[in-house]
Amino acid sequence: MVWISTPVKRISGQIVPPGDKSCSHRAIMFAAMAEGTSYITGLLEGDDVLRTGEACRQLGASVIKTGKGAWTVQGLGRFQQPENAIDFGNSGTGSRLMMGAMAGYPIRVSLCGDASLSSRPMNRVLNPLRDMGMQVTQIGPHEGQLPLAITGSSELRAIDYTPPVASAQVKSAVLLAGLNAKGTTIVREPRKTRDHTERMLEGFGAELQSADEGEGQRVSIVGGQKLRAGDFIVPSDPSSAAFLLAAGLISPDADVTIEGHMTNPTRSGFLEVIKGMADLDITNQRLVSGEEVVDVRIRGKDRLVATNPPEELVPAMIDEFPIFGVLAAFAKGETRITGAEELRVKESDRIRATVDLLRVNGVEVEELEDGFIVQGCDGKVPGGGTVETRHDHRIAMSALVMGIAAQNPVAVDDVAMIATSYPEFFEHMAQLGADIREG
Ligand code: S3P
Repeated sequence: MVWISTPVKRISGQIVPPGDKSCSHRAIMFAAMAEGTSYITGLLEGDDVLRTGEACRQLGASVIKTGKGAWTVQGLGRFQQPENAIDFGNSGTGSRLMMGAMAGYPIRVSLCGDASLSSRPMNRVLNPLRDMGMQVTQIGPHEGQLPLAITGSSELRAIDYTPPVASAQVKSAVLLAGLNAKGTTIVREPRKTRDHTERMLEGFGAELQSADEGEGQRVSIVGGQKLRAGDFIVPSDPSSAAFLLAAGLISPDADVTIEGHMTNPTRSGFLEVIKGMADLDITNQRLVSGEEVVDVRIRGKDRLVATNPPEELVPAMIDEFPIFGVLAAFAKGETRITGAEELRVKESDRIRATVDLLRVNGVEVEELEDGFIVQGCDGKVPGGGTVETRHDHRIAMSALVMGIAAQNPVAVDDVAMIATSYPEFFEHMAQLGADIREG
């Protein structure tokens, strides 16, 4: 059974995107590590985040849903030995950050995940955590991949670490382990990645220091700090908003408003690049839980101008390249995406999956080791293909968005994974006037 997105005449409406996935994971995790009761609102109730909630329960916290997006988390100020293995499903963020969070407690925890997560590299996080004193036992056949077990320690050593890749997950895992280590843990990032861990740890009462260092930054945390329970409103997810913005940008005669778009500079690469491709109205700047948000309105039928994302913006739009590839297909001119080799180790190999998505829909595209080159169709994308989604939510959503304005319907082989990050995707697309159904 496939799902088909059929071209529609007009996309219009006003949408508040769901809670941010990165902030939602962290809100539950940090509240579970703190002692006392925290109240979280606006939580993304996607499968990935619910898995993190379940992991925290297994580690001794009480995690209770009290309403839509409203959760109460009661932490013990430490993690307890869980009885069973923890299953992180599809979630790289949940599994990698929790490894760092668990590393500072004397517990042995087995971790597993679905087929996609079990093929993703974990050594990027395990290596620095080993240096700090955590032990790792391989369970599955592939070294450095799930399933595996970790044994934490209350005697972790602080490290001064320069990750070989720009990754917020690596930075976060090391900082979370650093919270319970002896001494000052330092992470030197070659390029700045999303800073939700730093901002939110401060919101939960921890002290951190950040300073620019070359093109990147240096973040340090003194070990032995206790987190304080608190209240947290999750701002909306710019990575989910990107699908709605793209729908407005490719659709003839659109009028789409995204309310409360987070503009944290470590997340707003996509918004920055599309500003150069079309006219956007950006208004109503305000703060939600320390994060700046705005409303973005897209109107009329602008011709999209092909624009190459600068490599320094890659970490700030790392999850948006599949949908950016779709925009590039509708634009006039050639788009070159480079410096994005990290896409090879996401929920799927997103360079290959995006190239195939575009090709099967009649777009000329060249695969590079670290990106791809798209020949834009100036609004006339043939469509008509069936896209292989490869357990990747963002590939599925990108293809379905393409279908609303292609010359022919676009189909996908699976939509189940969309619930990991954007359970309201179909509802929101229908509100905008899209025609997506099972076929
Ligand atoms: C995330 C960091 C990014 C991103 C992922 C969420 C996070 O991964 O792709 O969806 O919440 O820290 P990397 O840090 O591995 O690039």
